[in-house]
Amino acid sequence: ASLQGRNTFRVPARAAMLIDVRKPAALGELFGYAALKSQPLLVLGEGSNILFTRDWPGVVLSIVARGITMLDDDGERARIRVEAGENWNDFVRWSLGHGFCGLENLVLIPGTVGAAPIQNIGAYGVEVREFIASVEAWDRHVGRLTRIANADCAFDYRDSLFKHERDRYVVTAVEFTLSRRRELYIDYAGIAEELATLGVAEPSAPAVAEAIARIRTRKLPNPALIGNAGSFFKNPLVDAALADALREQYPRLPNWPAGDARRKLSAAWLIETCGLKGLRDGDAAVSTQHALVLVNHGAASGAQIRALAERIRSEVVTRFGVELEPEPLIV
Ligand code: EPU
Repeated sequence: ASLQGRNTFRVPARAAMLIDVRKPAALGELFGYAALKSQPLLVLGEGSNILFTRDWPGVVLSIVARGITMLDDDGERARIRVEAGENWNDFVRWSLGHGFCGLENLVLIPGTVGAAPIQNIGAYGVEVREFIASVEAWDRHVGRLTRIANADCAFDYRDSLFKHERDRYVVTAVEFTLSRRRELYIDYAGIAEELATLGVAEPSAPAVAEAIARIRTRKLPNPALIGNAGSFFKNPLVDAALADALREQYPRLPNWPAGDARRKLSAAWLIETCGLKGLRDGDAAVSTQHALVLVNHGAASGAQIRALAERIRSEVVTRFGVELEPEPLIV
């Protein structure tokens, strides 16, 4: 089966077997088949955080189960169960439509609800882990559905238990706790300005969503129009000593405190300062809109995009002594 239409980089790749799973209850039966037991497994959502550099030799599972269920709602807070195959942005819109606050900063993030906890999606100062009560997953080690409470998900910046145990857990649903009273978070650079441009004096959650949607549309290439997987690298965490040394040399270095004598740097700034923004090698390129996003202008292969990423990593480490780590899964 071709995976080219199933990854937002739109690079060619094939899977030996591709299965769309509508009912997670069927996973037990599915994993019972001998053919599946012995094969490497890859779970794919909308393919918006993956780079294929080769074919997948085994099974690709896509959880396409949909549905949003209000478990309880006391008028202020509610518990909501969302099946893994729901589109993330549709769920954000649904939550705003029902008067909830919190997910507005995460508007327009590509991908499914099931993928959201895996890399703990985040944007504009908010991470999804704040709203997750638990994650339901098929546990291949014990062969049943299990519910993992937030505290046991090992959430961290663009990281979770599920990212490290890809062969073990298949996320089937996510349970959220949402409030109608949460304070808006509009401190992130650019949001207040955008609200002012929109003429919003007293922001509401939908207004913040609108402002952020406009910022994203301007800043990030749209995967529907040009192949990409969002940020290709994580923002690096470095020792404060290295950040201080770099700041002496580059007074404009963007950096933020990140706990225990560490600081977070802007990968986009490091890449742009190396003069790599807009760099193009065939159809593989660094976006001219945002230095952290690699794009496929049409006919790039995954290997070409990976080669470009490797060149970026190498130039950044040579110039700044900072290692960039890829953000998407590289197959
Ligand atoms: N910058 C540059 N050059 C650029 C773009 C940005 O120098 O071409 C610098 C600017 O100094 C800017 C800073 O980088 O102030 C931060 O830029 P931005 O606000 O766009 O955020 P980011 O750190 O580059 C992160 C997330 C994005 C998320 C934005 C907004 C990661 C890996 N990326 O990017 O998430 O949308 O913040 O909150 O943490 C993703 O994960 O796929 C993703 C797009």
